This record gives sequence, C-alpha cells and structure tokens, in this order.
Amino acid sequence: MQVFYNGRFMPAEQVSIDMEDRGYQFADGIYEVVRVYNNRLFHLKPHLERLGRSAAGVELELPWPQEELADVMAQLVKANRPGDGIVYLQITRGVAPRNHPFPARAEPAITMYTKEFPRPTRNVEQGVACITVDDDRWLRCNIKSISLLPNVLAKQKAARAGVYEAIFVRNGRITEGSSSNIFCVYGDTVQTHPANNLILNGITRQALLRLIKQEGFRLVEEPFSVPGLLAADEAIVSSTTSEVTPIVQVDGHAIGEGRPGRVTRALQAAFEAEIRRETGA
Ligand SMILES: Cc1ncc(COP(=O)(O)O)c(C=O)c1O
Repeated sequence: MQVFYNGRFMPAEQVSIDMEDRGYQFADGIYEVVRVYNNRLFHLKPHLERLGRSAAGVELELPWPQEELADVMAQLVKANRPGDGIVYLQITRGVAPRNHPFPARAEPAITMYTKEFPRPTRNVEQGVACITVDDDRWLRCNIKSISLLPNVLAKQKAARAGVYEAIFVRNGRITEGSSSNIFCVYGDTVQTHPANNLILNGITRQALLRLIKQEGFRLVEEPFSVPGLLAADEAIVSSTTSEVTPIVQVDGHAIGEGRPGRVTRALQAAFEAEIRRETGA
C-alpha cells in the first residue's frame, strides 16, 4: 500500500515516525477522515475547508494549498483502490526537540493513507444502541484535533457496555457522540446541537441539515436533554463512517418504537441518493 508521508509517496512499510514529532509528544496536530465510495472521494471540499479551519484554530500554517492536498488524496486512492474506504489525513506541527512553545523552524509533518472501510449496512438497516457519558472535553471541540483521549475513554465505555456509541452530555445537554453527531426527531422536526465550540461540525451533519430541509422536515439547531432524547420519536448518529445510522436504544431505553423510524428512513434515502450522485456508488 502506498502512503504519503512528508511530501513523498512511499510503501507503508518504509514510513518511520520520528519520536520527537509533536503529534507523538503533545498530540499537537489536526486530522480529517474523508469517505471513499467506489474509489471516488465523497464530500471532499467541505473536509478540506474544515481542515483549514482546524489549522487556523491551532495556529498551524499549512504549507500545502487545498488543491494540492486534494490532488495527493486522489493519487493515493488511484494507487491503492480501496473501493469503499477512507482517506486519513493528519498534519502535526512537525519534528523538534520536546519543548512546549511552537518550534521556530519545524515544518508541519503530513501523513496520508487509505484504508478499506465497508458500508455500515447492518447498522444503517437495524439501528444501534448508545449510552450517555459525561462530556469532560476541552471547550474547543469545533477543532478536529488529534488530542482524542476523552473521546477514546468515552468510546471504551461504550465498548465495555456492548453498545455502538457514547453520547456526550454537558450540563444536562447532549452535545455529540464520541466520534459522531447526534440528532433527535419529534414528529416532523429534527433537532441537533448548534455548531459552536462544544461540537465538531460534522460534514455528515452539514449534509443532513441540507437534506432535512430538502425533504420538507423542520430543522431546529438547539441542544436537547437526556430526557428529551429518551422521549424522542427517533434518533440518529451521523459521521463519515457511520453515515446516517438510527439510534434505537439509549441507556437501555427504547427510542420511539425501538426501530428505525420514518424520518430517519427518508433522510437515509436522500443521503444514499447524494452518494450515488457524487460517486456513482
Ligand atoms: C467528535 C466528533 N464529532 C462529530 C464527528 C462527525 O464528523 P464527520 O461527519 O465529519 O465525520 C466526528 C467524526 O469523527 C467526531 O470525531
């Protein structure tokens, strides 16, 4: 498999990471995960735009224009042909002797690779169970930073509980999932946390906002509580890899009738049409 590491395409086995990479030492970096369907990149532009915002958010100057990153990504997909997969892109502040302030001379270090990742067909069809956990993350969750320890700990709680996702709750309000955004549905109204510093504004979330309006549903961007979620008719977990997955159970309580609902199905169909339009998959 070909990867892109620090400006060069090379076989994955030849990559060695410097132990003084600030990503390794401080988690001082940002990342993106872009979906590939049918060997075509999906929603590429908004992912690169978000990467630019994440970089600016941590004062990291990207030496590569977005077109160049897009070009490298396309070349990797062409070389590796993951079919249905992802491209992982990570940029750290570079390699320098360990010291907290920004290094004077370090060049940002870039890593890009592809991975096969099948469609989550079973979850999309049947729905998933989730648990709620305390949101104890920092207050800049809008930045797609590689500092993911609280997310990892939350996801491990979900894994231990035998469920799909951990849903973060801050001051009684649901923010998002450990690696996803969360929606709930009341009648024809779809509600989700607003895109502020408390959540990552998912690219799938942004697509859903469009599709909610397109399909004639009402959109409310306001936080909701745990009892609000438990009382919803339907709920959804969205991400690049989860797509539009129904949530059918939270903390052991059934959501609605405990199976994927009408609004979720309509949004899944609209999302599927968007995938087909953009990638032919
Ligand atoms: C914390 C968090 N929120 C939301 C998302 C969903 O974002 P996207 O739809 O761009 O994958 C992710 C994706 O990894 C995430 O890590």
